[in-house]
Amino acid sequence: MTNVRVEASKRYDILIGRGLLENSGKHVRSAAGGEKAAVITDDVVDRLYAHTVVKSLQAEGMKTSRFVISHGEKSKNAVNFIAMLNFLAENGFTRKDTVIALGGGVVGDIAGFAAATYMRGINLVQIPTTLLSAVDSSVGGKTAIDLDTGKNLAGAFYQPGLVICDYSTLDTLSGELISAGCAEIIKYGVIADSELFSMLKQPVQENYEEIIARCVSIKRDIVCEDERDEGKRNILNFGHTIGHAVELCSGYEIPHGFAVAAGMAAMARASFKLGLCTKACRDGIIDMIRLHGLPAEVKFGAEELFKAALSDKKGGGGTITIIVPREIGRSELRQVTMAELKEIIALGIAEQGGA
Ligand SMILES: NC(=O)c1ccc[n+]([C@@H]2O[C@H](COP(=O)([O-])OP(=O)(O)OC[C@H]3O[C@@H](n4cnc5c(N)ncnc54)[C@H](O)[C@@H]3O)[C@@H](O)[C@H]2O)c1
Repeated sequence: MTNVRVEASKRYDILIGRGLLENSGKHVRSAAGGEKAAVITDDVVDRLYAHTVVKSLQAEGMKTSRFVISHGEKSKNAVNFIAMLNFLAENGFTRKDTVIALGGGVVGDIAGFAAATYMRGINLVQIPTTLLSAVDSSVGGKTAIDLDTGKNLAGAFYQPGLVICDYSTLDTLSGELISAGCAEIIKYGVIADSELFSMLKQPVQENYEEIIARCVSIKRDIVCEDERDEGKRNILNFGHTIGHAVELCSGYEIPHGFAVAAGMAAMARASFKLGLCTKACRDGIIDMIRLHGLPAEVKFGAEELFKAALSDKKGGGGTITIIVPREIGRSELRQVTMAELKEIIALGIAEQGGA
């Protein structure tokens, strides 16, 4: 088992190993505690893994209850969020008790937001079960729900007290969901770790523990420097401005990881055309995206994407921060005007067939 320690506004461990669910109760008991635990999950994960977690919690003497949402991004909404808060209240949860987010990024984000806001914050344990949530969303404390106008528009920065990443749960993921997780791993490789990027030439399953540990360690280092996303943390959004626009334009039919992949490819093309990255860097990113069965093309028009991208703008003012890949393993932040963003989107999606 690998243990990655995070020392942000809260100190917590990320436990990475095979078969950790069986002992999840012990880990929850020592890190979070309380008498009660609410396991929040989706219907797919509920059928696969909730019983193992519940059994382990009960073996530690914890009273458990389950709250199950339908799977998919559309469940990350205000109605489910309020229902979760009511569920916690009806079951007599206090601040000493624990919310367990068992599932992918959707469950992690909405259950995390419920934990952040219920009684102004109760214990939260993240148990990621998708590759994407293992390498990215379960760590770092961003929690959110989507509004009709855009993604993640209501949320909170709220660190978990523990992350238990049992990567044997990834064995039941479809090839498509593995690919979606690979998009975020490609992101980490491009922004900070060329060795990690090279590891992606092999099937990820061969190196889960090291890959997950590398990704969350990169995220940990960045989050510890800029927990509230006021500067450096923006680098984690490589591919996400266009990616979120793609998700919104598709009515959330295109999964997050696929949209991010298309967004990274567009940024690589635009950066090359602007003379900011080499051809080798652009081609390396696009080839890796394709190698993992991810889309390197965006199917929406520049105008439509630009409008959608505006809803993702959280920084205020007349500019937006974009992330430019300079070479594999190194990227930088740039402030651009909205007119420049429009131009970048247009450059990113022009001549997509070739590179
Ligand atoms: N908070 C953050 O820092 C952050 C970072 C990146 C992404 N996100 C968010 O994460 C979400 C995407 O996460 P996701 O890709 O995990 O999607 P998801 O949570 O919708 O999970 C994808 C699908 O996988 C199923 N599933 C989960 N675990 C499984 C397993 N072990 N075996 C079989 N099926 C399983 C789920 O039921 C779901 O149908 C988006 O909402 C995105 O905005 C958040």
